[in-house]
Amino acid sequence: MTAPIRIAVTGAGGQIGYALIFRIASGGLFGPSQPVSLRLLEITPALPSLKGTLMELEDCAFPLLADVQATDQATTAFEGADWVILVGGLPRKEGMTRADLIRANGPIFTGQGKAINDAAGPNVRVLTVANPCNTNCLIAKSHAPNIPADRWFAMTRLDQNRAAAQLAEKAGVPVSEVTNVTIWGNHSDTQYPDYKNAKIGGAPATTVITDPTWFTEQYIPGVAKRGSAVIKARGASSAASAANAALDSVRSLSTPSKGDDWFSTGVVSDGSYGIPAGLIYSFPMISSDGGRWSIVPGLTIDDEARGRLDASAKELQAEREAVKDLLGPAS
Ligand code: NAD
Ligand code: LMR
Repeated sequence: MTAPIRIAVTGAGGQIGYALIFRIASGGLFGPSQPVSLRLLEITPALPSLKGTLMELEDCAFPLLADVQATDQATTAFEGADWVILVGGLPRKEGMTRADLIRANGPIFTGQGKAINDAAGPNVRVLTVANPCNTNCLIAKSHAPNIPADRWFAMTRLDQNRAAAQLAEKAGVPVSEVTNVTIWGNHSDTQYPDYKNAKIGGAPATTVITDPTWFTEQYIPGVAKRGSAVIKARGASSAASAANAALDSVRSLSTPSKGDDWFSTGVVSDGSYGIPAGLIYSFPMISSDGGRWSIVPGLTIDDEARGRLDASAKELQAEREAVKDLLGPAS
């Protein structure tokens, strides 16, 4: 029997957690033949209601769920983990920016970074979802000197999925026709959903949607501010779509990319495309066997795009400055 893959999920008792863990347990992450083992981290007061979720997991009788454990101890949750999905933290409410969360959520990631460093498995990979996710990822990584830099990811996949959906809707085609969508930068309003390198039905998106003002006036702000629009409509931040994007992120990072398509994730910048090294910045990426990944080189960046890429890098530098007292030895 194949050994289970161990996945730790923080904030498992929250909205995203509830949408995420049943899909992982049912085989929605690693497929129908791969057993999984779940470790769920919550704050102590949330453990009683998380117990109810454990009862529901049990009642699903998922054949692939090898075992599950809930805890309020980070080192117990991360022990031997192959993947850690950091969801735990406050979501924003209407009227807040993601940056408003920086001081509220940032401190969570000092202790969790240390615990990942001390307890996780030798091949651990970490996806940060909790906002502001790029900078929370930076904080956690800075406290984990033993975990290589290429194992840390911040989630911009929800933005990529939103971008693909908006391009498909405008072009009047199924979303499966939309490829090569890049989200550059921060998971915030300064992100740049790159329409100039995106494709629809294999052709440049700008030859299919020919109104340039739609891209700059509707598409870019529509994607970047979609999180706020969902909060306004739902009264709570996106949860099912965020859980879905977390699954997409882990899957894309764990399986070799196909064809000439790519995906977007925040990773530690190596200086590619002139982005300052060390920032957690979203790039176009492909993955190969064994969970290795690389940034897609050589995309055309014109002056307008350059300005947008740099503005998002600047925002991330300011976020890093705002949490510099929280950064650890590996910063
Ligand atoms: P939620 O409030 O429903 O759940 C968060 C859970 O985290 C709660 O159960 C809380 O008890 C738990 N938690 C708080 N501190 C913790 C800690 N130190 N350790 C473990 N658990 C802890 O919120 P949600 O809707 O699930 O959103 C979670 C986070 O994800 C928010 O920060 C939100 O902004 C972010 N988010 C990111 C994206 C993205 O695309 N990157 C998308 C949607 C939401
Ligand atoms: C989103 O993009 O939906 C999340 O990051 C939640 C938010 O605060 O926007």
